[in-house]
Amino acid sequence: MELTGEQLKDAETQLRRHLPRSLLSQLRPCPGVGGHMATLHCDCLQTNACAAISHRHLETFNAVASEKHVSSKKLAVCHMMILEDISKLPSVDSSGMSLGSLDESHVCCVSQTWKFANDDEAVGMIRNMITNFPSCCVLDAQRRPVSWILTYASCAMGMLHTLPEHRGKGYAKVLISTMAKRLHTQEYPVYCFIEEENLVSYRLFKTMGFTEDPTYRQAWVAFNEQLSGW
Ligand SMILES: CC(C)(COP(=O)(O)OP(=O)(O)OC[C@H]1O[C@@H](n2cnc3c(N)ncnc32)[C@H](O)[C@@H]1OP(=O)(O)O)[C@@H](O)C(=O)NCCC(=O)NCCS
Repeated sequence: MELTGEQLKDAETQLRRHLPRSLLSQLRPCPGVGGHMATLHCDCLQTNACAAISHRHLETFNAVASEKHVSSKKLAVCHMMILEDISKLPSVDSSGMSLGSLDESHVCCVSQTWKFANDDEAVGMIRNMITNFPSCCVLDAQRRPVSWILTYASCAMGMLHTLPEHRGKGYAKVLISTMAKRLHTQEYPVYCFIEEENLVSYRLFKTMGFTEDPTYRQAWVAFNEQLSGW
């Protein structure tokens, strides 16, 4: 659907009101539409970017990318799981566990295990998350993290990982519970994205009281040179 000049102005006003400041810089006048409404999609496609969109818009996104001769690749399709009611969080036993937060010395450890961390930009994102957003980890006797969970800039919990030799000890459950309570106390939404194929993780979050909107899936798409690392 094409928007008229007035609708474009309205859309731009609304976007400016509701978008996080970090994204406002991406709204620039777009030639050919009366100087208004550079859509975020438009700008994303002109840069090397990774975008998160509803899977329903995937076809449109790919069509626009192809029209602009921009290469695109679907990286993942995820369930969005939300903990609507914090009282649904089951009690978990953390006795005997040493809990802490990640710090910059753990960037490498997280990067090595996150399947999408295959370029400097992704490692930079992990550094930013560890430095500026809440994280939680289980530490071994030598104070090394063996299981961890981070928070994305969007406030979604993510990058949950337990080293293989420490799985099945209840660490992930404790971390999800701890982080969920922390985010809830600070009045943030408690949610995460889980790849469609990751049934273990899907079941785990369901057990922890998370629910999903079955009609919604989030697709992650890479454009341009972002593709070179995949
Ligand atoms: C998913 C993951 C974080 C679970 O970590 P963990 O510390 O072993 O989890 P827990 O010990 O707290 O176990 C949580 C539940 O998952 C189940 N579970 C864990 N690994 C499982 C497996 N391989 N197969 C089946 N169930 C499994 C456990 O049985 C447990 O359920 P229960 O208590 O009802 O029996 C871990 O397997 C992992 O790091 N996987 C790779 C990365 C990943 O998929 N991360 C999630 C991204 S959203």
